[in-house]
Parts: sequence; structure tokens; C-alpha cells
Amino acid sequence: MLAIIGGSGLTQLSNLEVSRREVARTPYGEPSGALTFGLLAGAQVVFLARHGHGHAIPPHKVNYRANLWALQAHGATRIVSVASVGGIRADLAPGDIVIPHQIIDYTWGRKSTYFDGEDGRVVHVDFTEPYDAALRMRLIAAAAKTGIALKDGAIYAATQGPRLETAAEIDRFERDGADVVGMTGMPEAVLARELGLPYAAINLVSNHAAGRGDSRTAIRFERLEAVQREAMGRIRGMLERLEE
Ligand code: HPA
Repeated sequence: MLAIIGGSGLTQLSNLEVSRREVARTPYGEPSGALTFGLLAGAQVVFLARHGHGHAIPPHKVNYRANLWALQAHGATRIVSVASVGGIRADLAPGDIVIPHQIIDYTWGRKSTYFDGEDGRVVHVDFTEPYDAALRMRLIAAAAKTGIALKDGAIYAATQGPRLETAAEIDRFERDGADVVGMTGMPEAVLARELGLPYAAINLVSNHAAGRGDSRTAIRFERLEAVQREAMGRIRGMLERLEE
């Protein structure tokens, strides 16, 4: 079963025919909210709002371990993450949809592994390709079927938040090779890998990153919501075609 983790702007899937909601518990605590099960264009899916209902959990406080564990324990076999990002690369503008292919992790202090050594085992997972190639291709195919433009490939910089970045930090991320910046891509991606769950992401560029484009002197939060509202319609359409 496909699991969809929705971020800012996608706290619910309005096109989901909900069959049940379940509050899950895990050895790592509680996930961000109830798991919502239902049919999306005839396919069984489970949805979880990453920041909780009412968007109350900031990126550094999300219980990523509980979220992924609960989804797998309730039948998820692959994960699509939907997340807003700031655009660093010059060709990325607010409203663009990007399927990232790589990650640079700048987060710190998050609980980022199930393999904490507590059971006497040291486990290193391969993470050369952080996103699942087949699932990425399905996202790209779903967009093509829906006639939705997207950009295939971006290096995602995962930043700690909850504050936005300084212009100099964005310059540094760009020198490092990053194309987009967001606050939730890690450790979510690596925890999925540790659980053996194929994982891919749909990134919505909701603003130019700090110091770029119309964010040259400041990021104008009042604009983000409108960009997200419009784009999430397109993303919902894409998700409907994913299981065909
Ligand atoms: N920076 C970090 N995270 C974000 C941004 C940004 O500019 N926009 C949306 N999520």
C-alpha cells in the first residue's frame, strides 16, 4: 500500500475517500497524527500529515521515527513525501514541482536512526541513492499522464529550521551543489531506507530561497499559502494517477 506524507499545504487529501482513521502507537512514541486510510482514485492509500492536524509540530520536533514505523506497521510498502521547499537553482520559481534525486543533510540533533546500538548491533545502511529510482519514475510518469509539468532531478538541502536561512547560508548550500532547501527531508528519507521502504519526494517550490529572486531582501510569508493552495491541486491530481 502507498503511504503519502503531506507537509505544509497538504494537511489533508481532499480527494481521498476516507474509510477509517487510526491513532497508532510505536516503540518510538506517537506519530504526528492519526493515520487516515482510504481510496484515492480506487487505490488503497494511507495518509499522514507530517506536522499534525492544524500544523502544530515544527520540522525539528516531528517524530520521524514514529511516523515511518507506524506507516509500515499499518501496511505501507512505499512512501511518497510531499514537501514545500525554497528554490535555490536559478530556473526554479514558486509553483514549480520538482522530484529531487539527491540530499545533503544539514540537520542536527534529530533522532535519525533506528539503529542506535541499543541492541548491541551496529548497522550501516547504504544511502548512495537516497530516493527509490522506480518510485521516482512513477511520480514522473503520473505527472506526464496528468499533463503536469515538473522538473526531474534536484539536490535537496535539508536544513534544521524552524527559522528560514540567511542569504549567505543559501549561497553556501548552492556552492555545495544544492538546488532546493527544505526542513523535513531528513531524517525521513534515511529512516525509510532503514526500514526497507522505497521512498520518493514531490517538492513544491513555494518561494525563492533567501536572497534569491523576490526573496532578495526577505521571504514574504503571505505569498506562500496561495502558491501552496494552487499547486497542491496539481499534486493531488498527480497522486491520483500514481497507482495506474
Ligand atoms: N527554506 C527552508 N525550508 C523551506 C523554504 C525555504 O526557503 N520554503 C519552504 N520550506
